[in-house]
Amino acid sequence: MNRVLSGIKPTGQLTLGNYLGALKHFKKFQDAGEVFVFIADLHALTLPIEPETLRTNTRDLVAFYLASGLDPKRATIFLQSHVSAHSELNTIFQNYLYMGELSRMTQYKDLSYKMNNNAIGLGLFAYPVLMAADILLYDAAIVPVGDDQIQHVELARDLVNRFNKRYGDILVMPKAQVNKVGARIMSLSDPMRKMSKSDSKGDIFLKDDLATIRKKIMASVTDSGSEVIYDLDNKPGISNLLTIYAATKDISIAEAEKYFSGYRYGDFKKAVADAVIEELSPFKERYEQIIQGDEIEKVLKDGASRARIIAEATLKRVKNAIGLLDVK
Ligand code: TRP
Repeated sequence: MNRVLSGIKPTGQLTLGNYLGALKHFKKFQDAGEVFVFIADLHALTLPIEPETLRTNTRDLVAFYLASGLDPKRATIFLQSHVSAHSELNTIFQNYLYMGELSRMTQYKDLSYKMNNNAIGLGLFAYPVLMAADILLYDAAIVPVGDDQIQHVELARDLVNRFNKRYGDILVMPKAQVNKVGARIMSLSDPMRKMSKSDSKGDIFLKDDLATIRKKIMASVTDSGSEVIYDLDNKPGISNLLTIYAATKDISIAEAEKYFSGYRYGDFKKAVADAVIEELSPFKERYEQIIQGDEIEKVLKDGASRARIIAEATLKRVKNAIGLLDVK
């Protein structure tokens, strides 16, 4: 069984990077096998967030999932907080991942460093524990993630080894899958920094209007020289635009480079803007329809009840294996 599971945290505004790296690909998985996509709303609490912002972001994400072509009849779309097995398995898994390995996680180190060791919640530290529960509850084989999350999937794999070695063949081994093109979309104003949900002028947000998106691409940093070639060291800005174009058109970077040979920067940027707008414009239209309609609640209700069936079966298997007494 090739079950695919992925989740996105409803923090900040989704960017073109999230679209090209994740959303755009879910539909392909749906055509190939069984897909579970959820909104990691409990993970969103690991850094301070306003309740209203969390609600808005969560609804937006459901609409973005649907706008990307996921069919709620085939793909199971749900909220992490609607399936209590996530929290229960998290409680159990806390005992199978160790403080040492959690404190070595890059995401934790980066965030806690920025926070000056001030008010770091236990949830932030234990983030990968809940994430392991998310993944392993669904016996997921493939976990599409951004490259910053590979380390967490690796930790979930360590947990599977540790757990199965002790209790037998209980948990299914997952594997991270990173999209080759599109996994690293950088900021348009600072191509050394990844386009992120929380940053500035160089990030294209999926909620930006089309004119703003065009403006941001046309205003992207220009490297020295005049040729459109992929060269991360000397032309990070141009390389980033080539990546964006290739990911948008589903072609390789080499193909994109070939296509633009002889182009000047200005015409190149215009072509990239055209491609991005052509891709995002129907997507944004569907999003608008969905966010104004009344489909979201129903999708989440259905999704949660389907997800619960799978998740509760796994939870039961785990509980039995470790010796928590079951009574009928
Ligand atoms: N940590 C992921 C992110 O920040 C979101 C996430 C939570 C996730 N649980 C997951 C992704 C399980 C894949 C599988 O992007």
